[in-house]
Amino acid sequence: MIPFEAGELVLPVFVREGRSEPTPIRSMPGVVQHSMDSLRAATAEAAGLGIGGVMIFGIPELRDAQGSQATNPDGILSVATRTVIAEVGSALVVQADLCLDEFTDHGHCGLLSRDGSIDLPATLERYRDMGLVLAEAGAHMLGLSGMMRGQVAAVRLALEARGSLKPLLLAYSAKYASAMYEPFRDAVESAYAGGPRDYQLDPADRAAGVERAMTDVSEGADVVMVKPAGGYLDVVAEIAVALRSHPRPIPVWAYQVSGEYAAIEAAAAVGSIDRRRAVLESLAGIRRAGASGVLSYWATDVARWFAEENGT
Ligand code: PBG
Repeated sequence: MIPFEAGELVLPVFVREGRSEPTPIRSMPGVVQHSMDSLRAATAEAAGLGIGGVMIFGIPELRDAQGSQATNPDGILSVATRTVIAEVGSALVVQADLCLDEFTDHGHCGLLSRDGSIDLPATLERYRDMGLVLAEAGAHMLGLSGMMRGQVAAVRLALEARGSLKPLLLAYSAKYASAMYEPFRDAVESAYAGGPRDYQLDPADRAAGVERAMTDVSEGADVVMVKPAGGYLDVVAEIAVALRSHPRPIPVWAYQVSGEYAAIEAAAAVGSIDRRRAVLESLAGIRRAGASGVLSYWATDVARWFAEENGT
């Protein structure tokens, strides 16, 4: 009954600067902010279980308006990227989150103008620099999760100008303004205190998600993603169908986000549903819609279940 493989799953991980022990995340029971050592162990385990990749989110000690730590070659995200690659080599597709919200003191994905709106040119400049720094750190793939217009083209051009650096670009093309990201804010200790997020899409608008995916493909994305996953399966399916006729094979992935994780965990914890069946069913649905890769906080658990079932 399992219509997918461990290799199609990507494990999102959090790594916190300045910690010597992993720290539990209150709103995501079972998920931790890693120390560098526990990150190494978790990614080695993921690789051993045959998971496809890992997406790294760095949580810096210091934040400012520019998100300066995002482009520090010795900052938490670059160090973690190098560390994971040293640990697992190419056994995992090592992905780094290319966004500023973990690094800014206001918690937005971009830089802000005086009036509080996003300063797009300045934001894209930061993304270009961040792309180069993460590529230098050796990231196999960059997760462009900021939902800024033109971000794929900006990072693509910056990498091309630097010739030797060739990470794949994963575009979070259809990122909806969702209530389901709330536990993630806790996980990355985001300073976000509300205010406009009009750069994310209206949950009622399917066409916008499809349109943004096509735009990102034309800007040079290697993979496009829909986020969240569960509530947006129609968007996944429509993009998958639209890309079938594309001359270049472009996979569609989906991100089963923190709130989707927390909801099933909470229901299972009080005995309302069977955890394992619910998790597998949720992933089967995402695959059925047409996603060929899924970011899921359950990636390691699921891979372990598969290994048990196969007697390995
Ligand atoms: C942006 C980013 C977010 C998530 C992944 N990348 C936060 C946001 O979009 O506001 C959320 C993922 C989740 O909820 O699990 N860096």
